[in-house]
Amino acid sequence: MSVSVPLLGTKVRYGRDGWLPLPHILSDTDLKKLVDRIDGISAQRRPEVVHEEGSSAVRALHGCHDFDEVCARLVRLPALVGFAEQLLGGPVYVYQFKVNMKQAHEGAAWPWHQDFAFWHHEDGMAAPDAVNIAIFLDDVTDENGPLEVIPGSQHGGIFEDGTRAEQHSHDWHDHVSAKLEYTVPDDIADELASALGVKRLTGSAGTAVAFHPSIVHSSSNNLSDERRCLLLITYNRIGNAPAHPTRPAFLVGRDSTPLVPADDNSL
Ligand code: SIN
Ligand code: MN
Repeated sequence: MSVSVPLLGTKVRYGRDGWLPLPHILSDTDLKKLVDRIDGISAQRRPEVVHEEGSSAVRALHGCHDFDEVCARLVRLPALVGFAEQLLGGPVYVYQFKVNMKQAHEGAAWPWHQDFAFWHHEDGMAAPDAVNIAIFLDDVTDENGPLEVIPGSQHGGIFEDGTRAEQHSHDWHDHVSAKLEYTVPDDIADELASALGVKRLTGSAGTAVAFHPSIVHSSSNNLSDERRCLLLITYNRIGNAPAHPTRPAFLVGRDSTPLVPADDNSL
């Protein structure tokens, strides 16, 4: 199966809403292969594996495409690379690769935020000329902490509390924990949500969605019995690579040469 090249209507819709459902990309066999690989990595102790605060539950994995061959192939699938290139209008590279595990009962929230706030302030990314593709590795339901987006909010620039500018820790751990830096202030998130509505991105394992770096999004604690694992790949337009990123390479990809797509869409 492949993701079709974005047609004009698709691009316009993405431009309007800031998110887009994509066709399933992976076969059931490949999805299982990927999930097995992610389970294996999450059992490793390495800097790329981050735990929930005060818990042994794994919260997230980072940069797996740099050390695992299945993940390395995933980011080069022609369906994904082609989609990102068409959407961004040129060659792309992997800016970020992460897997948010959202373990049953223990997976903690992601407060309202915009990814571009982190990438701009911390890494020096000039423009939000990147796209996130989220692949659901588990069934995502209303109960297990789905991603929620505010469609259209990507048009408002970076929403932030200017009085906090001096207080940022510039510690990357605060960019991957439930106590997040660069959150959208509650009153602004409430206003955006009532003006624009909130879309919950639910679907069966294998579902894929694209979303904009500036869209306001969040997800709640996972209080359910079911894990909610999301794999997120951020493709950045080559000309938009930050000049001197300082955060770890597993958070900010350093290889900004154009991705060469794999020969087919299988893992
Ligand atoms: C989540 O995994 O629910 C949050 C994803 C994100 O902020 O990109
Ligand atoms: Mn995010």
